Amino acid sequence: MDIESLKTQIDSEIQNISSAQSLEELRLKYLGRKGLLAQLTTSIPSLPAEQRSVVGQQVNDLKNRILSLINEKQKSLGLQSAKPTPGMVDISLPGITQDLGRLHPLTQVMDEICTIFQRLGFSVVEGPEIETEYNNFTGLNIPLEHPSREAFDTFYLKDQDKLLLRSHTSPVQIRAMQSARPPLAVIVPGRVYRPDAVDASHSFMFHQIEGFMVDEGIKFSDLKGVLEIFAKAVFGQEIKMRFRPHFFPFTEPSAEVDISCIICKGKGCSVCARKGWLEILGSGMIHPNVFKHVGYDPKKYTGFAFGLGIERIAMLKYGINDIRLFFENDLRFLEQF
Ligand code: PHE
Repeated sequence: MDIESLKTQIDSEIQNISSAQSLEELRLKYLGRKGLLAQLTTSIPSLPAEQRSVVGQQVNDLKNRILSLINEKQKSLGLQSAKPTPGMVDISLPGITQDLGRLHPLTQVMDEICTIFQRLGFSVVEGPEIETEYNNFTGLNIPLEHPSREAFDTFYLKDQDKLLLRSHTSPVQIRAMQSARPPLAVIVPGRVYRPDAVDASHSFMFHQIEGFMVDEGIKFSDLKGVLEIFAKAVFGQEIKMRFRPHFFPFTEPSAEVDISCIICKGKGCSVCARKGWLEILGSGMIHPNVFKHVGYDPKKYTGFAFGLGIERIAMLKYGINDIRLFFENDLRFLEQF
């Protein structure tokens, strides 16, 4: 087929076109995958070598000519050009986006809590997850016969004499006090391990933040003041707090701290088991025996300590009812934070 006659042919054919449909038919006839131009292109390799590039060029010119004729026709028919001309960019197409990562909700809550205490002058210290029995228990005045030392309450490392996975962040009290002298105001975020059966509220691994302050003349009222600032910063200024007497071997006196239920505002609901109060942490005045173990004079120094579970705080804050959600790596959950 000769290119010149194709040119005249299309010139006259396009004149008679008056609908989008016949224009599309014409486009397919010439430019479709099995159209006349495609046929011409496949015949090029069989031409004598010196003609190939000339004919290739002519076919290309013809193609551009047809495209612009179709374009003009579309305009004169009042049609939008259905397909962008080759080389044009369709800026209305959605781009290829890269998903942005973000911090895990537990990390966010941990950072938030650390920031609150850092503003109060606390510094952040971390300790190892593999601890000695001494730092995890003995140094903290936890007696040999205490049930928490049993193998069903603590992961001991096989064949490793006296090494274990720490069951709370309190051993970092011992480490920090051994390596510095008062005044001391420290918070310790980190992972802890307990051989609990996993269910909606238990995990064999979870996170705590420990906090403690030691100096001359630190009083229980300092503990109350610091914890009140913390709880109101996390849960809102309107919450109430109460200190309930409790027992911990490493603090005396000891207290568990409750906040008024953030769901029912203290009236009683399923989240607070109709009590109106939610337990958020354990605390107390550091036991003199702990000071003796780290070589501080208990007559000179006093201090407070507290420990809280980050999962628990995050669950209350965001209304999450199953701790396992934090550890399943399900993006449908994680993307909400
Ligand atoms: N270590 C305690 C626990 O894991 C919490 C605590 C820390 C209590 C510091 C009092 C003082 O339950």
